Amino acid sequence: MTGVEFVRLGKRVQTEIGQRHRYAHTLRVARMAVQLARRYGEDVERARVAGMLHDLARLYSDQRLLDESHARGLWISTFDREHPRVLHARLGAELAKERFGINDERILSAIRAHTLGNGSMTALDAIVYLADSLEPEREFAERAELERLAFSDLHAAMRETLRSTTAYHGASGNSIAPETAAAIELFHTRRSKLPDLIETVREAAEDKKGEDIAVLDLDGRTIVADTFVIVTGRSNVQTRAIADAIIESAKKDGFGVARTEGYLDGNWILIDLGSVVAHVFTPESRAFYNLERLWGSGARQARAIES
Ligand SMILES: [Fe+2]
Ligand SMILES: [Fe+2]
Repeated sequence: MTGVEFVRLGKRVQTEIGQRHRYAHTLRVARMAVQLARRYGEDVERARVAGMLHDLARLYSDQRLLDESHARGLWISTFDREHPRVLHARLGAELAKERFGINDERILSAIRAHTLGNGSMTALDAIVYLADSLEPEREFAERAELERLAFSDLHAAMRETLRSTTAYHGASGNSIAPETAAAIELFHTRRSKLPDLIETVREAAEDKKGEDIAVLDLDGRTIVADTFVIVTGRSNVQTRAIADAIIESAKKDGFGVARTEGYLDGNWILIDLGSVVAHVFTPESRAFYNLERLWGSGARQARAIES
């Protein structure tokens, strides 16, 4: 986006929102989302646009939020009915589509998730969520501390921000949205299960005679995973056998497998287990891609990770 395009977008958003105060918040959120995206290697333009458009429906009355959500066939939960204001996030994504022609699902997802979070938040979702919660003009005791954390460890910042938000709502006698509970599960519980998942992957790989097993703690530098487990198989047949064993053990131990890539080719099989991503390489591919050099600098070799 050029400077001119950005100014144009700003003008349109300003008109759409219609309130100076809320527009200023929007700009601060966009700015912080951009900074966080840079910090974590996420797409800066998407972060900027999601930040700019996240609150398009924020000033709608409860009734208008309910009516317009209903008119668009959006699912309205019991929690939404009791707290219609939260609908501004999902309705906002619809407005971004309709009025700004945004069809990029990653941007829309970040807009949808910015208020309540959810159980499958992506890095960009988390960035926009944190930028919205922690922008400099928000006034609450832990804000500055959480902002610092957001720039050093995205996972920890999500955990702590969710904790702070739910504590605030709990103190005000409000219930927690199911989406927020799922986000807490995503960022908190999965962390406490991390050592078990690493062990499951390691054991499965060892069982199939995987070699040179390395565990890289990514130390909050990505939200894609907390940890990489890297393992070598002597041939494509062996890498597939190792991958099969990892997938089977993970499922048996109750962990989800989000996706698998490269299985047919077998030179580099990636198994995304959420907080752990297992990479199974042939020796040649492992040397060629050298993930340990790419990601290992500065990352601790995680022999023991406290939960
Ligand atoms: Fe909002
Ligand atoms: Fe906002």
